[in-house]
Amino acid sequence: MKIFSGTSNLSLAEKVAQHLHISLSPLDMHIFPDGEKRIRVVDKVLGEDCIVVQPTSTPVDENYMELFLIVDALKRSGAKSVTAVIPYLGYQRQDHIFREGEAVSLSVVEKTLESVGVSSIIAFDLHSVKTPEIFHVPLYHLSALSLFAKKIEEIYGSTLYNTVLVTPDMGGVRRIKILSEMLNNTPYVEIVKNRDVITGEISADKIKGDIREKAVIVDDMISTGLTIKQACKLLKNKGVKEIYVFATHAVFSKNAKKVLEQCDVVKFFVTDTISVLEKNRFKKLEILSVSSLIAQKIRDIL
Ligand code: R5P
Repeated sequence: MKIFSGTSNLSLAEKVAQHLHISLSPLDMHIFPDGEKRIRVVDKVLGEDCIVVQPTSTPVDENYMELFLIVDALKRSGAKSVTAVIPYLGYQRQDHIFREGEAVSLSVVEKTLESVGVSSIIAFDLHSVKTPEIFHVPLYHLSALSLFAKKIEEIYGSTLYNTVLVTPDMGGVRRIKILSEMLNNTPYVEIVKNRDVITGEISADKIKGDIREKAVIVDDMISTGLTIKQACKLLKNKGVKEIYVFATHAVFSKNAKKVLEQCDVVKFFVTDTISVLEKNRFKKLEILSVSSLIAQKIRDIL
């Protein structure tokens, strides 16, 4: 087995390699003055099962192109299989035609990954549980919820009875139910969120369910941070005293860091499915690693 990394999250790839007790194999990557890349596999990979770690977060197009080229280079060099570890799968939200005339980005991604020769894919906390059905190769849908459950137990221990889990929108209900079961059926509530399609503004003014003194908000991703901001505001208005936030993907677009820093939250936990740039880090942010979960899945499937 050989493991390679694109440039989008080298530190995660290194951690996965460590768990697998192998070293990262080098790639010869040359960038031309116009930005095009020439990628060459240095090691012999003939007949090898190969793994490529490359989340396709911002810059999404560049990261995808790099992944396509790495997989192509591996297949042309005789790799037996190529497992693409794409912890954050870019373009997954555009999974069908929302308005007439649109492209289905996820379908383009699926066709390209398969045509360059990807044998299987590992991804985390996908936007839709139906995403794997779109692919013709196995897409293993992993989740960071087990890491979150462990952390929540560490934080609250025996005082968990005073805590409620919160999904900031309807899309997260399935996720919050799973987490609730992991935490001895800790109760959960759903915030009714509306996003204005034109302005992008978010409103959250209703909670379905009974709140408690302490709340743990769980989401699949934080992009602009506005969903979390509105959820915190509403919970505080309803009398919640202490809030923790957990989200798998730290997309952190626009001025998310500033928005999050202004929220009345004890601590934010995200994972390393996306590499969090230094400029986006702040005191109350802790990053949990999904590397052991990836390594375990690789051991299971290869
Ligand atoms: C929505 O469907 C997702 O689960 C997240 O709540 C959303 O993408 C977060 O975006 P933002 O941070 O921009 O509000």
